[in-house]
Amino acid sequence: MIEFPKDFFWGAATAAYQVEGNNLNADWWEWEKRTGVKESSGKACRHYEFYKQDFDLAKSLNHNCHRFSIEWSRVEPQENKFDESEINHYQDVVLSLKERNLEPIVTLHHFTNPIWFARAGGWGSSRNIDYFLKYVEKIVGALGDRVRFWVTINEPLVYTYHSYILGVWPPQEKSLPKSKVVTDNLACAHIKAYKLIHAVYKKRNLPAPSISIAKNLQAFAPCKDSLRNRIAVYLRDRGYNFAFLDELARHKALDFIGINYYTRGLVDTEGWRLKNLLLDTCKKGHSQLEKNTLGWDIYPEGLYKLLVRIKRYNLPVFILENGICTENDNARRDFIRQHLKSLHSAMDKGVKVLGYIYWSLIDNYEWDKGFAPRFGIIGVDYNTYERTIRESAKEFAQTCKTGRLE
Ligand code: FCB
Repeated sequence: MIEFPKDFFWGAATAAYQVEGNNLNADWWEWEKRTGVKESSGKACRHYEFYKQDFDLAKSLNHNCHRFSIEWSRVEPQENKFDESEINHYQDVVLSLKERNLEPIVTLHHFTNPIWFARAGGWGSSRNIDYFLKYVEKIVGALGDRVRFWVTINEPLVYTYHSYILGVWPPQEKSLPKSKVVTDNLACAHIKAYKLIHAVYKKRNLPAPSISIAKNLQAFAPCKDSLRNRIAVYLRDRGYNFAFLDELARHKALDFIGINYYTRGLVDTEGWRLKNLLLDTCKKGHSQLEKNTLGWDIYPEGLYKLLVRIKRYNLPVFILENGICTENDNARRDFIRQHLKSLHSAMDKGVKVLGYIYWSLIDNYEWDKGFAPRFGIIGVDYNTYERTIRESAKEFAQTCKTGRLE
């Protein structure tokens, strides 16, 4: 049996665009319409209407925290025009969480942008960082007295990679120089937002908040053990896993390290295409590991291996996302157990971990992959919008309650 600390945070995450529905003013919405993606987000899970019921379910599963994101395009549908009724909505979201003793962990940017911001050049222009800061100031002013944990930007490099290298997400550019500019702007936006949020709390005499990004980490390993592959693993590990965190740590702009962990990346440089060097994984079926329905390797040990290396930052860690899409709920139960064990082993090695948040509370819109991947510990019927608690959620609920895992 393993045991987690008494004050450990347990919960599940969502992101606004993936669950709320009808985010008409987001760049993604416009892009879905224009490009005709195979499945558009539409009403998503109608979480915008049903958030209280969803939080009741989280509470009934013994969660004590919940991660969600604010949809910027709702609160600022036009440049410099904030919609107070939408801000009230998110105030009510936070209040509803607090009423259920669910600690809110609030993400300010989770992949989507207001259309006007995207038209102004989005993250490709350093001038636009000020827009983000204005939005952050507004939200922190409205929610600050009830929020301790802020996540400024979700997975900056995942965003850059899909939107500016692969070009499969809006604005669908494929430019390495541009991706570098965007990455730098995201880092700069975080550092400035970090300082701004702390300043707002200080001015209002509120206890200091804890701020981070959500950093996606991958456990890279060479496919064939060749020198080339080992070099590529080294480069990816440095560039993808650590460079961004190093930069923020250098600026002392992290209070904890938010981590999203899903998979291993089996590195194969055959062909030497530039994108191979960046993030591509072996597509030749060499991996023997079990996979989720999107084909991602399931590799719990990777979490341990990465966490013990994160120790050098000397900051607490918060697992902000970890999950599996599957049609087999037993696989989800095993996934959670194995990753919790791996997490616990890292804690035994002295890694300070604040909590574990499963992705996701409910099935949702998995971006360009549509609604097919089922990540939820709660299922969603997209015809009736009915929610069904899965067995894996119940087993996880036991751990949330006791802090123990047999
Ligand atoms: C992460 C994203 C999240 C979700 C999961 C499956 O990269 O942060 O929105 O799509 O993957």
